[in-house]
Amino acid sequence: MRQHGFNKLDIILLVMIIISCFFNFSCSKNQNVLDRGSSLSAEDADSNSLISPDGSFSCGFYEVGTNAYWFAIWFTDSKERTIVWMANRDKPVNAKGSELALKKNGVLVLKDVDGTVVWETNSTSTGARKAELLNTGNLVLKDHKDDIIWQSFDFPTDTLLPFQALRKGKKLVSSLKKGGFATGYYNFYFDNDDNVLRLVYDGPEITSLYWPNIALGIYQNGRTNYNSSRIAVLDNLGRFLSSDQFQFSASDAGNGIKRRLTMDYDGNLRLYSLNNLTKVWNVSWQAMPQMCNVHGLCGKIGICTYTPNPECSCPPGYERSDQSDWNSGCKPKFNISSCLKPDEVKFLEIPHTDYYGFDLNNSNPITFEACRDICLGDCLCQAFSYRLTGEGFCFTKGVLFNGVQTTSFPGSIYLKLPASLQVSGSALLSDSSSKCEPSDVNVRVGSTLMYDMDFKKVRWAYLYSFSAAIGAIEFLIFVSGWWFLFRKNGTSSNLEDGYLLISSQFRGFTFSELKKATNNFKVELGRGGSGAVYKGHLTDERVVAVKRLGVIFQGDEEFLAELSTIGKINHMNLVRMWGFCAEGKHRLLVYEYIENLSLNNHLFTSSVLGWKERFKVALGTAKGLAYLHDECLEWVIHCDVKPENILLDSEFEPKIADFGLAKLSQRGMPNSEFSRIRGTKGYMAPEWALNLPITAKVDVYSYGVVVLEIVKGIRLSNWVVDDDIQEPEAELARFVRLVKRKILCGDASWLEETVDPRLQGSYSKDQAKKLVEIGLSCVEEDRYRRPSMATVVQALLDCEDSSRTEKT
Ligand SMILES: *[C@@H]1O[C@H](CO)[C@@H](O)[C@H](O)[C@H]1NC(C)=O
Ligand SMILES: *[C@@H]1O[C@H](CO)[C@@H](O)[C@H](O)[C@H]1NC(C)=O
Ligand SMILES: *[C@@H]1O[C@H](CO)[C@@H](O)[C@H](O)[C@H]1NC(C)=O
Ligand SMILES: *[C@@H]1O[C@H](CO)[C@@H](O)[C@H](O)[C@H]1NC(C)=O
Repeated sequence: MRQHGFNKLDIILLVMIIISCFFNFSCSKNQNVLDRGSSLSAEDADSNSLISPDGSFSCGFYEVGTNAYWFAIWFTDSKERTIVWMANRDKPVNAKGSELALKKNGVLVLKDVDGTVVWETNSTSTGARKAELLNTGNLVLKDHKDDIIWQSFDFPTDTLLPFQALRKGKKLVSSLKKGGFATGYYNFYFDNDDNVLRLVYDGPEITSLYWPNIALGIYQNGRTNYNSSRIAVLDNLGRFLSSDQFQFSASDAGNGIKRRLTMDYDGNLRLYSLNNLTKVWNVSWQAMPQMCNVHGLCGKIGICTYTPNPECSCPPGYERSDQSDWNSGCKPKFNISSCLKPDEVKFLEIPHTDYYGFDLNNSNPITFEACRDICLGDCLCQAFSYRLTGEGFCFTKGVLFNGVQTTSFPGSIYLKLPASLQVSGSALLSDSSSKCEPSDVNVRVGSTLMYDMDFKKVRWAYLYSFSAAIGAIEFLIFVSGWWFLFRKNGTSSNLEDGYLLISSQFRGFTFSELKKATNNFKVELGRGGSGAVYKGHLTDERVVAVKRLGVIFQGDEEFLAELSTIGKINHMNLVRMWGFCAEGKHRLLVYEYIENLSLNNHLFTSSVLGWKERFKVALGTAKGLAYLHDECLEWVIHCDVKPENILLDSEFEPKIADFGLAKLSQRGMPNSEFSRIRGTKGYMAPEWALNLPITAKVDVYSYGVVVLEIVKGIRLSNWVVDDDIQEPEAELARFVRLVKRKILCGDASWLEETVDPRLQGSYSKDQAKKLVEIGLSCVEEDRYRRPSMATVVQALLDCEDSSRTEKT
């Protein structure tokens, strides 16, 4: 009897095992079809999804938080799950009991737990046989003849996939927030009136077009309005072609790369390519290189400014409406009464700033006073914009939207404020500490960090592809910032502060002014790939170094836009740029003059630099680079760190020069060839030779070489013939090999042998050891093993004091 009982149990177990095997089997196989009458449930979202035959796309329930599910299609193998389509973007369903079913009447329907229909297809064909996820990422309903009677491609959300046509009446609509799905305000669509493909901000208060360039007409933008077919499509090579003749190609154009065109939450339209090794998305084209030109970005009254990342702020007298969301812009700090009388009003000038559109009135030529009086006399006028370019242009504004501050704008906006309102400069200044706030810490942890970093590097490569005519010169990478630091807390503006900085320090010079200042370019201080540098004296007695660029740079507007950004970079270990000249063919840059020559003059000559100074130079240089890479900017890679570019002031404080400039010559020229741009032989990271993506780690490498040279006092970047291997190799490689071998063998003599003998033993052992260690780790071949500049700074700060205690 007992035996029999066991048998029964065995059978039950066996059946259970068989059932579960079968169940697992049926679920884990790549199923791409949902038959009529069957359904997917949200409860076991993980095991219950459709996968396209080639595995590229998955379709099923996507969970965010604990109990919010979306029915979506996503790329199966991107590192972060990337949604390309959603049925219910504004209405997530519950976990328990929600399901997607293909009903007998041919309708695909999404039901919440209580049976409410959250979404359904417009297909009512009794012939519908199955729902199928295709290799293109298209979810289709097919009838018994295999004809498509409904497809998700006809109902895009914020993403367009290759072969998915954007048609009449359809649009891509951005998400409201980064990482969110709810419908936002930015639209990519064909204009009904003129058949032109556009970007528009369609917000709760205003609607405003911003792409293609609003200052130009349809034909000037290279579009046509005669073709009313209104269809645009991205092909598998990364080429986008639209019926209004707009077209572009991905920077990595070619077959076999997964791509998506996404209307991003920040108002930029970007083409992304999936790196098939890292599984990370890289931008391979974008519609808006200058983010501040995206409308609605900073909400009502908010002003977008490059600091140098695009950033929103409120003008004096206003504060943020919602600390977490710039869409709602700024609100006044004062009570708005019905209508301010002229004697109760004052105007606050915000230079180089304009709000686009919503003009009550515009006139020219007109004097400043007359313009002001028009605004005074009009209750609705909130501000007026005035610029004197030849003749006076006056625009009075009823609504303040799309504010941009950029030094290339020649006018000012004058805000109408109650006369009683205190707008104190000091209150604004007190904010300046927040100016260089590191970006959101969340961005810097774990996998997200990887994502962002990879993003950056390829962006770089992308910009690179424009650099055709520039050739091998010093190169500054200016990323016009898809990256937003909008999450800053308690931001208020320091526009006034910013302006002072710009006006007193950074400005445009005329060519004759600089010719005079340099005494007709008489004293040449040096000469590099990008041009010669001359000493000069400005009329205000400042001594300057004027760099005359020898290459053709891009158009004025971009040149200026970038310069204004660079003009704002301010760090004690970076050479300050005071101004520029862009006149006709002349392109000159005006830098502060640094007293004490460059590091190579102190390191590799008969003069001997003391230990204290050497350490100071190593630390200061690291700080300057860390600043460029991280603290404020996230966007500059120097690419040519070497002793020649490290200048020393009278106190031997290092200042890095030539985090300089060279960008796009002719943006977007199709078929432009480009040569890779390099730094200086001997200081260049292996990535350059290996054709790997260029990241900030190339600077870390160069810094490592410099640090080892600082310790050793000789050029390690020279090429020598090694006796052992009878082949030329860089002194560096030999040096690294020898030191590493000794360290490994516990041979303590390495330190003594490494440090410059000319110091005659007077140096801090701790510091020297630390510098060599850092130097060695910086010149690791594998860039992932090199530290970041921020880490280097910290390590050096930790042993900064040891010279005091030890004092050799
Ligand atoms: C469903 O919508 C698509 C796209 O808008 C349209 O082409 C199709 O005719 C619609 N079908 C029905 C049955 O209304
Ligand atoms: C309109 O655009 C479509 C799609 O680009 C193209 O196929 C068609 O030939 C164009 N029509 C005319 C009249 O140019
Ligand atoms: C990754 O992409 C490159 C470039 O398109 C291609 O040559 C390579 O074969 C791809 N590798 C894999 C594993 O798909
Ligand atoms: C605004 O008005 C409210 C009530 O009318 C008053 O309490 C407040 O002090 C006023 N604020 C300013 C800045 O005048």
